[in-house]
Amino acid sequence: MSKIAIYPGTFDPITHGHSDIVRRATQLFDHVVIAVSENTHKNPVFDFDERIALTTEVLANNDCVEVKGFSNLLVDFAREQNADTIIRGLRAVSDLEYEFQLASMNRKLSSNIETIFLMPDEQYTYLSSSIVRQVASLKGDISDFVHPSVFQALTRKHN
Ligand code: COA
Repeated sequence: MSKIAIYPGTFDPITHGHSDIVRRATQLFDHVVIAVSENTHKNPVFDFDERIALTTEVLANNDCVEVKGFSNLLVDFAREQNADTIIRGLRAVSDLEYEFQLASMNRKLSSNIETIFLMPDEQYTYLSSSIVRQVASLKGDISDFVHPSVFQALTRKHN
């Protein structure tokens, strides 16, 4: 039976840090579903369709990766995808409290879905989508942190 994992997030936008986690996940699972959350409470810069399209473009070269949008409960979406594992990235100790809360709630909602944490490469531990958006909005160079398609999309947003 193939092992399917789900990697959820807002991906506003996807960065090299996220891609690094995806690469690590594909070494552990047969199939990884990148679940882009509609997540309107975060008031994203890129709308739902843009985030799905950009994430798909960035990860297009990997056959065992699939990008899908979702707007329901994560554990329900995971079940719909036949995934029994949720992947989350842990960058620093500061992520732990929030991640512990999410994982605990997800376990309460569905005890047979396990959350596992992967660490991105050291060079991405300080990266986040909002810091990339902020630097881009002030015309800083973000080309080391995001795929060229994301770079172009962010440049268009801020011109
Ligand atoms: N590299 C770079 N950045 C990373 C990263 C990595 N490896 N890992 C996390 N981040 C950053 C993200 O860029 C994001 O930064 P930002 O806040 O500056 O934009 C931040 O860490 C966390 O965001 P993300 O990983 O996208 O998660 P999220 O907290 O936005 O999303 C969901 C959380 C979508 C998984 C959660 O809200 C959810 O499951 N929603 C569905 C509804 C539901 O089931 N709710 C109950 C859950 S208990």
